[in-house]
This record gives sequence, C-alpha cells and structure tokens, in this order.
Amino acid sequence: MAARKVLTRLSQPHLLGIEPLSSEDIELILSTAQKYQTRTAGETRTVPRLDLLAGKTLVLAFFEPSTRTRISFEMAAQRLGMDVVSLGLEASSVQKGESLLDTIKTLAAMRPDALVIRHQGSGVPHFLARHTEVPILNAGDGMHEHPTQALLDALTIRDHKGRLDGLKVAILGDILHSRVARSNFHLLSRFGARIALGGPPPLVPKEFERLAPGIIACRSLEEALEGADVVMMLRVQLERQREPLFASPAEYARHYCLTAERLALAKSDAIVMHPGPFLRGIDIAGEVADSPRSVIPHQVENGVAVRMALLELLTGAQA
Ligand code: NCD
Repeated sequence: MAARKVLTRLSQPHLLGIEPLSSEDIELILSTAQKYQTRTAGETRTVPRLDLLAGKTLVLAFFEPSTRTRISFEMAAQRLGMDVVSLGLEASSVQKGESLLDTIKTLAAMRPDALVIRHQGSGVPHFLARHTEVPILNAGDGMHEHPTQALLDALTIRDHKGRLDGLKVAILGDILHSRVARSNFHLLSRFGARIALGGPPPLVPKEFERLAPGIIACRSLEEALEGADVVMMLRVQLERQREPLFASPAEYARHYCLTAERLALAKSDAIVMHPGPFLRGIDIAGEVADSPRSVIPHQVENGVAVRMALLELLTGAQA
C-alpha cells in the first residue's frame, strides 16, 4: 500500500461528520488524541492541566439530552485551559421563538473559538457551518452522524486490538435510529474492518449495506456475533420510534440483550463496547457490562482525549 501523507492540520475547518474527513484527517485526530490519553494498555498516567488553549472560549449548544458527550467536551476544553459557556436550553431565546440560525449567529457574533452542537435535526451542524466562520463540532445530529463517538471508538479498538484492518466488528441493536452506527460505518469501513449488523429485523435495514463497503446486515444477532473481534451494542432509541416495536422492554431483552451466553459466540478475546447510555438488563446484561471484557469505561476516558485533540486541531493552536 502506498504510504499515506502525514498531515499536521485538518483539511476541514469543522467537524461535521466522519464521511467528509479524509483518512489522513482521521489518523491525525487519533495520533493527536494519543498524547492526551490517561490510560493505554493498562498503564495509567495523569494528564496535567495544560494551558495550550488558554484565553479561548468554547460554546456548547445541546438541544437534546446528553451526559457523557457534553461533560466530556467540557472537561476536554477545561483541561486545555479554555473557558466554556453552555447555552441553557430552557432559558434560551429558542424558547421565545427565535430561529436556530439566528441564535447561532448571535452566539457566533460573540466570537467564541469553537461551537459544539447537538440537535435532533439531521444536517443541522452542516447548515450552520455554511453561515459561520466559527468552527462547528457535531456532537450528534438526529439519526445522521456522531463523529466524536466513532473517533473515540476507533481509538479504543486500536488500544485493545492494535488495528482496525481485517477485524470483524458486530454492531448490534437499534441500528436504524443510531447516528453512532452511521459514523462507525464510515470510519471502520475506511480502515478495512468488516461490519456485521444484527438486531430486530425492522431496526437492521438491508439497504444499510450500501452505506459503506464491508457492511453485512445479518439475519440474526447470533449470526452477527459469530467470530466477532469487537461487539458494539447500541441502545434501543424508543424516543425516535413512532410506534413501539416490542410489547415490553423484557420482550426486547429476551431476544436481543447481550448476555454472557450470546457473547460466547464471539471470539474468546472479543471486547464489548457501548456508546452509552446503556440499559442494564435490556440491551446489555449487567454481568457483561461489568466484566473485564467490557471496555466501556475506556471508551469514556478516550472520549476526553479525542475531544481535546479536536479542540487543539480546530481552534488553530497548531496554525
Ligand atoms: C448516543 C447518542 O446520543 O447518540 N450516546 C452518546 O452520545 N454516547 C447514543 C444513544 O443515545 O443511545
């Protein structure tokens, strides 16, 4: 394979999704994140609070609930010395009828150095990026993309498996409504992983095979799990379903919960991932989530490192 060009700056002014990034951009983000990691291969180290981005300001605008993504961005910014301002949804002018674009233009006029947005509308960050010079970071747009999640997932897989190329990654559960799944399709496929989808048939559309090379929509959860190196569970996104597909959460769990018995179908050294929030006993059994095979806490840790890398790269610290 021809040697890849090594970038020192991103080719994009914003982080809108994985799809618009080049493979070199992705490599640059992951290698930059490595220097901010607090734990690699079992070794723990303390990351000192840096002042690399001191004097810069990050604005967070979350129009949907979030725990880990929002706090992770906030911690990433603070660890680099940035000031963080959050738009409180309930108290914002959007509630008074101001359009989203006008609200964002108002925030941009105060000259923050970057703006993180999560919104229920697919494509909202892309639309806003056309109207502002401020770097926009997509923290999840509707059912479209969640690029920082896929980047932290890739970093975590590499930490444990040393590579992405040639791995079988089973992505299981509610694929249809998942922006995490879509961002992972683009990233994992680009780096040569095989992606096996499994879950309730209405939530695992066959057409998804066309979204990126290497995706197979399996007939069952068990088929997708067979011989997997990585098992990525997703939450059932009831808030995005118009009509309930299951009689009860217990009914869903009976067929689709990742139990120790089902996990035994994957390779014996397979790792278990979940972007969170995870529903214990519904999408993942407590004993699996708490087992040494679960790298969920490591994903969360890597989330801060990846977001520090993106803030460094997008706010021009390297310019
Ligand atoms: C996900 C999201 O909001 O897209 N969570 C996250 O950001 N880690 C997945 C979910 O809500 O199930």
